[in-house]
Amino acid sequence: MSLADKDRIFTNVYGYQPWNLSAAQARGDWDNTKDLIARGRDAIIQEMKDSGLRGRGGAGFPTGMKWSFMPKEPPKDAAGNPKPSFLVINADESEPGSCKDREIIRHDPHKLIEGALVAGFAMGARAAYIYIRGEYIREAETLFAAVQEAYDAGLLGKNAAGSGYDYDVFVHRGAGAYICGEETAMIESLEGKKGQPRLKPPFPAGAGLYGCPTTVNNVESIAVAPTILRRGASWFSSFGAENNRGTKLFQISGHVNKPCVVEEAMSIPFSELIEKHCGGIRGGKDNLLAVIPGGSSVPLVPAEQIWDAPMDFDGLKAVGSGLGTAAVIVMDKSTDIVRAISRLSYFYKHESCGQCTPCREGTGWMWRVMERLRTGEAHVEEIDMLQQVTKQVEGHTICALGDAAAWPIQGLIKHFRPEIERRIEERLGSLQEAAE
Ligand code: NAI
Ligand code: SF4
Repeated sequence: MSLADKDRIFTNVYGYQPWNLSAAQARGDWDNTKDLIARGRDAIIQEMKDSGLRGRGGAGFPTGMKWSFMPKEPPKDAAGNPKPSFLVINADESEPGSCKDREIIRHDPHKLIEGALVAGFAMGARAAYIYIRGEYIREAETLFAAVQEAYDAGLLGKNAAGSGYDYDVFVHRGAGAYICGEETAMIESLEGKKGQPRLKPPFPAGAGLYGCPTTVNNVESIAVAPTILRRGASWFSSFGAENNRGTKLFQISGHVNKPCVVEEAMSIPFSELIEKHCGGIRGGKDNLLAVIPGGSSVPLVPAEQIWDAPMDFDGLKAVGSGLGTAAVIVMDKSTDIVRAISRLSYFYKHESCGQCTPCREGTGWMWRVMERLRTGEAHVEEIDMLQQVTKQVEGHTICALGDAAAWPIQGLIKHFRPEIERRIEERLGSLQEAAE
């Protein structure tokens, strides 16, 4: 089932109306927020659990369950004083292909700020830190202004929204490092340190920002929360397939006739998403080569396997990939697929924080071999060697960047090995010709 306009949460995603507080209130944001809060922590968390919302930052961890990990009673510091708890909102959207959080912040920032209050209350947080990607300069300006509007209207600060709950929201700008989108690197960066991931466990709910209980959630996960609470868990969970519930912002880029960001029901088939919202594949369906369906960290899927796939966590897993951030990168037959994946390898090499050896050394090594494959200079045995090295990197690093660097290459070798071999043979042929 695809989504009717009346069921869209992000009604201003294209910015047809102003983002400001009065326009947001006219769209239903901040409507009796204190009533939502009056339901109490447990009821809010239960509603979020019942909604089936899974984290929208890429990993898909159940949101209500994550909130429930926060302690009911604050732990004590060494002096016996209660520690505060924090919500950190991940707006460091840097995954190649992802641009949905940017649209929320540009056009619907009050959904995020209201969500920050409601979610923060539910998990007993004292404040929210919104960590926004450094390159999002205008978006940060909008966010600063929207937060100020909320303070001026008494929606944040002491007795936020008349709820009796004191709550602050701080906006913190990143400095352009992809790795600071990893939740523990983000926490390090907020603490003023170099943004490098921590080993998990402990997870942030146990020891997060300044060693205090912390939950890190993606922008979209927080921004949908007030609407879920107003319209009810059963409304939200009526969309999508079992275990893949709700509505979702899809970001479709590449070789479609109309690239766009669109909110749709989870589990919509790829073909419907593309035909209904993007005017189809450039040059028609038969011109489709492959799709990276969830941002650059998931493996590509060849045309014949993606066309009927449901766009959700399980449907894309079944074709060897993942939903990730739902950043759908469409590549038609004009794409040099080896070059495209090599370019991604360069990205991961460039963004590795260098902390663990398999990632620091492996990403550079993989990129260099990818370049040899691209130009046909490699030996055919190097394809298997590269595959083996991706397996040594995958699962052997502190954070998911190592996996993210390995998976696109694995997808390429799995589905486009003949194309890689063709280049090597072609180059050997031309070398032989030149020698004769
Ligand atoms: P993860 O699976 O390690 O964790 C997901 C979340 O669940 C985290 O908040 C983690 O603390 C929590 N969690 C997991 N297991 C837990 C447990 N046993 N107890 C308590 N909490 C637990 O994934 P990670 O590393 O946070 O995210 C990887 C994903 O991020 C990738 O799939 C990729 O799609 C996405 N990504 C998104 C980017 C963006 O721009 N939005 C950028 C880069 C990656
Ligand atoms: Fe840093 Fe890479 Fe290790 Fe992640 S996997 S901690 S980015 S070196």
